[in-house]
Amino acid sequence: MNKKDLQKTYQNCLDFCEKIKNPILKDVAKRVLIDYKTQLFNKPATTSHHFFKGGLLYHTYCVARNAIAICQLYPTLQVDMDLIIFGALTHDIGKTQELKDFDDITDGDACFENGAQLLGHSYEGAHIIENYLNEYKLDRQFKNQVLHMIGSHMKEYSEWGVLVLPKMLEVVIINFADHIDADLQPAHTPLEKTKKGEEYKAHSPRPYFKSLNDYYNTER
Ligand SMILES: [Fe+2]
Ligand SMILES: [Fe+2]
Repeated sequence: MNKKDLQKTYQNCLDFCEKIKNPILKDVAKRVLIDYKTQLFNKPATTSHHFFKGGLLYHTYCVARNAIAICQLYPTLQVDMDLIIFGALTHDIGKTQELKDFDDITDGDACFENGAQLLGHSYEGAHIIENYLNEYKLDRQFKNQVLHMIGSHMKEYSEWGVLVLPKMLEVVIINFADHIDADLQPAHTPLEKTKKGEEYKAHSPRPYFKSLNDYYNTER
């Protein structure tokens, strides 16, 4: 992804902030994007998806885009779009502490900053956002609801870290949006390079088969 595309992606993220109605969440979302701009532009999202310079920024944008799209498919579902947009834009901000800059990564296993795996990006992210929220007067339970969007976005207990299991539908939607992006983005290149009917590997440990359809259709 070139610098111009990343700049456009960054602007798209700032535009998503404008959709947030709560003035505190809007302010914090913008401040986080500004304060962590350099890291977002230089780090990958991880090794298994969006493993390129600025992948963290592009993945952040895609999760916000996906989460909004999912909610648009269920227009009568009374979820809080502020929490969803804010949570999507900040869900992986802890990775700014966890991962090295893409240019400094020599092999896949050495992508973590020293000791970062001891905490994990869910905790790191919640910690970052809590420090911002502490500057504002915010109802304590609501503050915890906001932090829940980051601390529980991985949905299940795993080595990647979840503070508690999801207790709000908004964080489940962020998790779906996250998984859609993490699973589909790595499929671009292998799918393009694979012949019809042959196997290719994407995000899943198991291979997929490419369609044998004589009328193979990629039109949207
Ligand atoms: Fe994550
Ligand atoms: Fe993510």
